[in-house]
Amino acid sequence: MSMGYIPQEILDEIIAKNDIVSVVGEYVPLKRRGNNYQGLCPFHHEKTPSFSVSPTKQIFHCFGCGKGGNVFRFIMEIEGLSFPEAVEKLAKRANITLPERELSPVEKKKIEERKRYLQINTAAAKYYHKVLLETEAGKVFRQYLQQRGITQEMIIKFQLGAAPMGWDNLYQFMRSHGVQPEELLQLGLISPGKQSNRYYDRFRGRLMFPICNDRGEVIAFGGRIIDKDSSPQKYLNSPDTPLFHKSKNLYGLHLAKNAIRDKDMAVIVEGYMDVISCHQHGITNAVAPLGTAFTPEQGKLLMRNSYQMAIAFDGDGAGMKATTRCLDVLSDLGCKCRVVHIPNNADPDEYLKTQGKEAFEQLILKSQDLIVYKISRLMENINIDSISGKQEIVEKLLPDLLKLSSAVALESAIREVCSRIQVSEKALWDELRQYRQKQQAGVSVAKAQETEATSEKEEIVSAGEMEMLVLGMLYTQPEKLAMIKQLGGGRLFSPALHKLYQAFEEQIERQGAVNSGEIAAEYSDLLAKCLVTAEKVAEKEQNVQLYILQLRQEQLDNQYQLLVRKLAEAEKMGATEEMLQALKDLEKVRQEKRECEVMRKGE
Ligand code: GTP
Ligand code: MN
Repeated sequence: MSMGYIPQEILDEIIAKNDIVSVVGEYVPLKRRGNNYQGLCPFHHEKTPSFSVSPTKQIFHCFGCGKGGNVFRFIMEIEGLSFPEAVEKLAKRANITLPERELSPVEKKKIEERKRYLQINTAAAKYYHKVLLETEAGKVFRQYLQQRGITQEMIIKFQLGAAPMGWDNLYQFMRSHGVQPEELLQLGLISPGKQSNRYYDRFRGRLMFPICNDRGEVIAFGGRIIDKDSSPQKYLNSPDTPLFHKSKNLYGLHLAKNAIRDKDMAVIVEGYMDVISCHQHGITNAVAPLGTAFTPEQGKLLMRNSYQMAIAFDGDGAGMKATTRCLDVLSDLGCKCRVVHIPNNADPDEYLKTQGKEAFEQLILKSQDLIVYKISRLMENINIDSISGKQEIVEKLLPDLLKLSSAVALESAIREVCSRIQVSEKALWDELRQYRQKQQAGVSVAKAQETEATSEKEEIVSAGEMEMLVLGMLYTQPEKLAMIKQLGGGRLFSPALHKLYQAFEEQIERQGAVNSGEIAAEYSDLLAKCLVTAEKVAEKEQNVQLYILQLRQEQLDNQYQLLVRKLAEAEKMGATEEMLQALKDLEKVRQEKRECEVMRKGE
């Protein structure tokens, strides 16, 4: 599937009309920081943002995992698409018509199949909706909704429906519209009967909740019984199908995502009715998992819109267990979580109905952060008057304390814990230090990388960054090539960046500038990293020469150390020849160091 026939001008136009900040912003909440934008990297787990987007260069780069590139690259990575698919997606986003592309038969079939499945689901949702609103069979369901206080507006907004009693109403309806049994089976709308060629509807006598993806397409259903005796199972969901994976979707997300952005917070509730009730009362940033434990995939979906989460599950035992799980998942992903405590074991639906929107918003405002929530739960079951009780609580809290990303948050959490269980802050700090050391002893590669990324970020120009900085600046100021060559040229760069420098040098000498399109794809990550590094520093300091001199000086320092070691060794071995050579080399390095120093002073 070659892209050759898409002219460069069209690719350029697609890039021009898809500003990388707004494209990335649809997946990652970004905060402006100087000339660039920053956020948590969507490609690896991290708690402090090392993911950077440059509007002037139109590139992204993560200092943590090293991923980087232009807007096509971003879409390829995050959506798991091929280059032609990413081009297509971004062209569509910018209303640019592409020349017709010949799809492979397999691709065509997949796209057609998906379209067909979505049509069938939409038709089923319409069917259930109509049954609810317009038929005699829907009457009991209308009454049930009325009795639960659900307004007509919400019934329409959430496209609620009713699956009539009887074995195969939906099946017959679909068959009369030319839908094949195989298709209905694939979508989990029917099940095969015991005898061959008999099928019955999966959902019978249930209030129906269409489940949509974040684009609002109907991908599955949930169904609730309305009288306790009709089935032991209160809720029944679609099974996982080609369209639906329950662990990768959230109920209500398509209706909540704009509000989550606007309010910069998502409210996570437990059930379908809670979501609907929240929306009805103006809490429009509410979503719910789909009857299973909260998953990292669901967390990531929410994080496309905000990093702040308020968990408002039921106050009962099951709810608390689910809350802890949800907290662990979200805090591992780097979210800021709060737990909304709803009094009297109520769920959000009951609370909103009796206390109203303002009271619920107050609960959210007063909600406890992760540590406070955990300590409260622990204190319910552990006697804090005993030393072993205190010890147990401390041990259980250490992992969570260690997860806190900011020093301020950690300090205030420690203060809180200590005052609650009556231990000295010094004792807790000591425990924490020991625990951290133990952790680091068995640290995983991923963790090590994350720590590395953090220190890199804190120290604005670290040793390794210097080379990147010089390369990045050479990109924007190609006229500096002569000076760089004079100061050492290729010698300045370690093997990793040497090839990139050579490509820069060759291009600047040939055409006066670097054209990133001509840089081999394998260097795309490195190039992006160089550009972002240069940009980050350029805000503070424009002096390329100074950086080159620093770089040169650093290298001379290294050479110097090396020679001193060589000299010592030669001395020990009594190798006069080597000693003299080392001394001579040392003198040369010393001379160069002095020159560097003079030039730096002269700046
Ligand atoms: P109401 O009882 O109508 O207020 O429903 P709710 O949405 O508040 O549900 P509840 O608190 O009982 O349960 C929370 C969520 O767990 C539901 O929305 C469902 O997603 C899921 N759930 C509850 N009971 C069942 C069940 O019997 N089977 C399945 N698959 N899921 C269930
Ligand atoms: Mn409920």
